[in-house]
Amino acid sequence: MARHIDIGTNEETAIVEACKVLSDGFPIALPTETVYGLAADATNPLAITRIYETKGRPRFNPLIAHMSGLEMAERHAIFDPLSRRLAEAFWPGPLTLVLPLRSDSAIHALATAGLDSVGIRVPVGFAGRLIGAFGRPLAAPSANTSGKVSSTTAEHVADDLGEKIPLILDAGASAVGVESTIVKIEDGELRLLRPGGLAAEEIERVAGRKLLRNGAGKAAIEAPGMLASHYAPGAAVRLNATEVNAGEALIRFGDAPVSGVEAAAAVLNLSPGGDLSEAATNLFDFMKKADASGAATIAFSAIPEEGLGEAINDRLRRAAAPRE
Ligand code: TXA
Ligand code: MG
Repeated sequence: MARHIDIGTNEETAIVEACKVLSDGFPIALPTETVYGLAADATNPLAITRIYETKGRPRFNPLIAHMSGLEMAERHAIFDPLSRRLAEAFWPGPLTLVLPLRSDSAIHALATAGLDSVGIRVPVGFAGRLIGAFGRPLAAPSANTSGKVSSTTAEHVADDLGEKIPLILDAGASAVGVESTIVKIEDGELRLLRPGGLAAEEIERVAGRKLLRNGAGKAAIEAPGMLASHYAPGAAVRLNATEVNAGEALIRFGDAPVSGVEAAAAVLNLSPGGDLSEAATNLFDFMKKADASGAATIAFSAIPEEGLGEAINDRLRRAAAPRE
């Protein structure tokens, strides 16, 4: 069973113990502002192999390399003026930039799945400080079994992966609640690969141009594993519900009317006041709670497709996609 360290009271111990486990080539559960990561030394092939094995993740799906800051990031990726502007505006924060990999980068090809690009981000707070202390980038996918709902608390991680990893660092619930927004920058072109915790509109404002959006086919090639069924709870998922059937769990948003609520197995509201960032924070935790109600189906009210709603709807569509 994983050892558990609370960062709020023991940050120094957490950093020392985490650095030991990481140096030994094992992954740890790392709290970030988006979701909990399953983090390991991005330069160590055995450590990266352990991430893939722990998650049951296909190895052609590359991992994000997490950095302590722009200086470390520039040692591994090639920044042009536009990528540097975005990094300066949004790091540390929920933005991953996919950039050309430097030929002298120590990041192992297993982490990038052999691509000549690398996804990089600088996480907020503790995670960034740990990486600074460790001195090397950490490869970290979300800390959940591949295809399942991501973890936004240490308890979620313990339930899913507690038997498989040596150390869980606990910083409470992740503030953002959905994964980072992924943007690829190539030849001055800006492409949204995954909507996430930073609203696309904010990126467009700083970049002074529109983000190109992938057709489904293109995304499949650019970022394997980002399509198909993903973020799937045990229950089936039904979207844009205006009524709930007896025995279904209901996850609402705002005050949009839903009929049949009395007979629902569980009723949760992502944000009674209709705030999309509050809804993002609650999303995965509420999916797990609705699942735990034992309902065979979770019905969701409609969520507006703007700001963080784009990321929420993206996760919900994947959760509702046919399972393999
Ligand atoms: O917020 C987050 O991004 C979290 C926390 C832990 O930082 N991490 C996360 O990682 O969501 P993961 O592995 O679940 O998702 C990373 C996505 C994958 O879908 C992968 O295909 C894409 O990033 N990706 C990574 N490197 C890429 C690259 N070079 N080109 C295209 N896509 C890439
Ligand atoms: Mg994930």
